[in-house]
Amino acid sequence: MSDLTRRRMLLSGAFAGAGGLVLAGCSAGEGRGGSASTSADLSPEEVLAHAPVGTETVPFHGRHQAGITTTPQAFASLIALDLNDDTGREEIRRLLRVLSDDAARLTQGRGALADTEPELASAPARLTVTLGFGPELVRRVAGAEAVPGWLRPLPAFDIDELREEWSGGDLLLQIAADDRVTVAHAARVLVKSSRTWTSVRWRQPGFRRARGSEAPGTTMRNLFGQVDGTVNLRPGDEDFDAQVWAADGWMAGGTSFVLRRIRMDLDEWDRVDRSARDSALGRRQSDGAPLTGEDEHDEPDFAALGPHGFPVIPEFSHIARARGEDPRPTMLRRAYNYEDEAAGEAGLLFIAFQADVDTGFVPVQRRLDELDILNQWTTPVGSAVFALPPGCEEGRFVGETLFV
Ligand code: HEM
Repeated sequence: MSDLTRRRMLLSGAFAGAGGLVLAGCSAGEGRGGSASTSADLSPEEVLAHAPVGTETVPFHGRHQAGITTTPQAFASLIALDLNDDTGREEIRRLLRVLSDDAARLTQGRGALADTEPELASAPARLTVTLGFGPELVRRVAGAEAVPGWLRPLPAFDIDELREEWSGGDLLLQIAADDRVTVAHAARVLVKSSRTWTSVRWRQPGFRRARGSEAPGTTMRNLFGQVDGTVNLRPGDEDFDAQVWAADGWMAGGTSFVLRRIRMDLDEWDRVDRSARDSALGRRQSDGAPLTGEDEHDEPDFAALGPHGFPVIPEFSHIARARGEDPRPTMLRRAYNYEDEAAGEAGLLFIAFQADVDTGFVPVQRRLDELDILNQWTTPVGSAVFALPPGCEEGRFVGETLFV
């Protein structure tokens, strides 16, 4: 490429964003002099090197699907598809093959085979595509006996006000990346590829803070302002594998996915003062520390009593109720915030992964259903359960284990 062409490219729209980033990121004396004209001296590769968020990739192939233990990306789009009546075993095989191929390309920054906008694939931004199966898909491929016992709608809970339009589904696409355009493009490609055999049942977009807005590793905040995700399973924990990964049959190396779309009444929450908010959770909103501790990761002391003889962390608080007899977490939580202007609501897309829904998620939800003061301001309005098969090697497709 001639210097002139390179210069034109850099000054044209194609690299304007990245060039801006270079300048914004340079303090005086850094980079190549720190003036606007110097960004034109960088090669496209160098410019991209200054756009680490866009260029980062997460491997698609492997023992487990990506998007489960991946550090949560800033944006997610959850899409549930319903199989057409005449979509049978062979059509599902073709569908999963196409989706796996699309995902393998897109996540590595390449356009999909039938991509009409491959340019949009060029910033993968840690894109992951995670596929999940509803009971009907499993049944059509491998018969009723292949459906895990926990793969069914959750038991009804008193707190639920579930809406059909946010619940259920035959095939889940969990698409997540640190760039919103990347997510939109991947979603468009994957839904287009599925169109012959499925229809869209629901779509639920979610978000966290943009990458770079705060230090890596910072626990997310939900829209109540709370630090959310402190006590969680972490890869490397002693019992992580046993709690998260299924061990048997076609699901070995896979996991289960529970989505609870939980509306949060932000207007009512506005009326609640700081100390009542902290009591409702059992932790301080300011820093996420338990009411008996100083730092976010201090172990809460549920036995500690205040001056009037009552527990410092109220027994009705969310963290007291969420924790069972055994303090070890039983699920990997990976939530996203949501706002839905059309529905006039905002809240949390509560997402949990566990080897078995009935032992990982349900007992916790039952305790919260019986009593959790936070229920005053939160209402589950959508619910879905999917089986996430293991990952696949190159040339294979996700879900292939179901066909053997
Ligand atoms: C909108 C609804 C919800 C909000 C706003 C919320 C918020 C929070 C917050 C702020 C914490 C404390 C920080 C942390 O350890 O993560 C927490 C802890 C927790 N939540 Fe929730 N949560 C909600 C729903 C749920 C649901 C549906 C479940 C499962 C059924 C759940 C299970 C847990 C668990 C297991 C903990 C850790 C408790 C412990 O300390 O052992 N939460 N939640």
